[in-house]
Amino acid sequence: MSGRLDGTTVIVTGASSGIGEATARALAAEGATVALLARRRERLEELATELPRASVHPVDVTDDDALHAAVAAVVEQHGGLDVLVNNAGFGSWGPAAEADVADWRTMIDVNLTGVLSTTHAALPHLATAAGGPRGVADVVTISSVAGRRVPSPESNVYAATKHGVGAFCEALRQEYAERHVRVGLVEPGLVASEMTTSGAQYAPDATSKGERGVLAPADIADAVVYIVTRPRHAAVNEMLVRPVEQVR
Ligand SMILES: NC(=O)c1ccc[n+]([C@@H]2O[C@H](COP(=O)([O-])OP(=O)(O)OC[C@H]3O[C@@H](n4cnc5c(N)ncnc54)[C@H](OP(=O)(O)O)[C@@H]3O)[C@@H](O)[C@H]2O)c1
Repeated sequence: MSGRLDGTTVIVTGASSGIGEATARALAAEGATVALLARRRERLEELATELPRASVHPVDVTDDDALHAAVAAVVEQHGGLDVLVNNAGFGSWGPAAEADVADWRTMIDVNLTGVLSTTHAALPHLATAAGGPRGVADVVTISSVAGRRVPSPESNVYAATKHGVGAFCEALRQEYAERHVRVGLVEPGLVASEMTTSGAQYAPDATSKGERGVLAPADIADAVVYIVTRPRHAAVNEMLVRPVEQVR
């Protein structure tokens, strides 16, 4: 059976759980060869056994050298790079004065600098792919509702990182539009994942919601698949996806 992404190579960061894992599965189901990046090697190796041609690249997105080496290894192994999905993320919520500043730094390092570094490493290869037979390449970044508006005081630094990612992606879109590297942002509402079921104080809680109050990781994977399977002249630059009952 032929898929809409046959012949493409995709990197998914944070592919070891939640939205990243679901996105890797969904893109592979469309025929993409998926390179799985995250820190938990065993999780990636387990997932790779289920996805044809998938490769495993254990890497911390805050380690710039390791990240550039991982992207180079993907291109070497698979012969190019058509799509980057920036998904790896970390969340910590709470009143500002009670915060551990180390958590703030980690959010900035993973959610913002990690996205910048991964994109920086991937861009030359994406630009090359856009000049190839597919005629287009994609950077899709998983932001958040909190990247559009600040949903609560406790989302302070998390929201700041996601707003920052939105600004960077818009600049990137403007810079690469004529080179056919499409830049898309997906802004999920509440999704049931490790991030929202940890029981951490002040964290968004997906455990107490009914079916309509929470999204599944596969709902966000669907959005990513939609974006990267548009015809080459159409770019979906932003997609906000909430559970039907989510008010803010
Ligand atoms: N869940 C929600 O309600 C929600 C809503 C809006 C947006 N989002 C965003 O969606 C994205 C995915 O989150 P999720 O909900 O799927 O949560 P999750 O299950 O906790 O997934 C987070 C992923 O990021 C990876 N990661 C974290 N730090 C990393 C690092 N330093 N280097 C490499 N990988 C790292 C983790 O892998 P390792 O631990 O193996 O490294 C994991 O695969 C995040 O950007 C998050 O901000 C989530």
